[in-house]
Amino acid sequence: MKTIDSISFKGKTVLIRVDFNVPLDENFNISDNSRIVAALPTIQKVITDGGKAIIISHLGRPKNGFEERFSLKHIVKPLSGLLKMPVRFNRDCIGINVTSEIDSMENGEALVLENLRFYSEETQGDEWFAKQLSELADIYINDAFGAAHRAHASTTIIANYFNENKYFGMLLNSELTTLKLAFENPKRPFTAIIGGAKVSGKIDVIASLLDKVDALIIGGGMAYTFVKAMGGEVGNSLIEEEKFSLVKGLIKAANIKGVTLLLPIDSINADVFNNNAKIQKSDITQIADNYMGLDIGEASIKLFSKVIIDSKTIIWNGPMGVFEMENFEKGTKEIGKAICMATKKGAFSLVGGGDSVAAVKKFGFENKVTYLSTGGGAMLKYLEGKELPGVLAIKR
Ligand code: 3PG
Ligand code: MG
Repeated sequence: MKTIDSISFKGKTVLIRVDFNVPLDENFNISDNSRIVAALPTIQKVITDGGKAIIISHLGRPKNGFEERFSLKHIVKPLSGLLKMPVRFNRDCIGINVTSEIDSMENGEALVLENLRFYSEETQGDEWFAKQLSELADIYINDAFGAAHRAHASTTIIANYFNENKYFGMLLNSELTTLKLAFENPKRPFTAIIGGAKVSGKIDVIASLLDKVDALIIGGGMAYTFVKAMGGEVGNSLIEEEKFSLVKGLIKAANIKGVTLLLPIDSINADVFNNNAKIQKSDITQIADNYMGLDIGEASIKLFSKVIIDSKTIIWNGPMGVFEMENFEKGTKEIGKAICMATKKGAFSLVGGGDSVAAVKKFGFENKVTYLSTGGGAMLKYLEGKELPGVLAIKR
């Protein structure tokens, strides 16, 4: 691994790709700054060495050009507070305005550039855009573990322009080290808990997890697609009909591979998507027409917890229900508790993904699990066993 500990950045202009894709509330306040805190060591190393730290990131998924709610200007003050020094901000991320601002910087200063995704070239992995970015600096550091599964201009393509002068940041390095340690030869039983709203985007990962784990627990919104595909009645619950055949294939594959695949057996249902909704509890295959499932029920909690508590390696991505609402938080909270108990008994537990990490923090479990990852998709992609494009680009 090409890491930065033994490098001096004195007098160098250093482009640091971080993942500052953090949740902002309606007043643009950061509701969870974990990703920023996690990137501080790398930024501080460049600054204290006496380099110019040019910080680049994406935020959200802007459609086309500038959108106020996705501006990285909202993170400048909080970042400045954490670094305990003023931080500059530029309203663009490439071009003459940016280069002249960098020229005017003193060594040891930090500059945040505007959201890379305001250029659609970023997600397209565009060569021209990557080259423009690369021309801003002498050295490139990728510390954006959360985006390392994206072959975007600033995470992957850009590395081609830096020859030897490209490095893994400290966060990216520690995330990879931890994943390797835990998952190269996992202690068994190995249980994966996958939740969240949608099957889409997680289906490949679920398929490849079947080759690794002993038990796979499916909860959250996506469980209703599984239940419906198998012929259950799920009322108004969120489902993705176009995934039915894939989902049936997964259930079959689990069977063949001898993986214990657990779906919820009961459900907490609401007549509207609101904490104050009318609530009904039911078997998960018998949800009334006008109700939607928003959390797993008591029997599911019991079933899942039993498997979790006896596991030696646990990975958790995605909540079991709408834990942001008090009436639908119990499933996520109790599954979190079971993971903490297993950890106490010696299991290695890894939690990744924005929502799961937010849940762990909400319920005060952050010091009771082994590792909180700043990556959701990236962590799952790693477990697929493929090298992440952002990682490969540095190694090449
Ligand atoms: C994330 O939050 O998962 C990363 O920042 C990547 O964002 P993306 O899923 O929009 O590419
Ligand atoms: Mg995401």
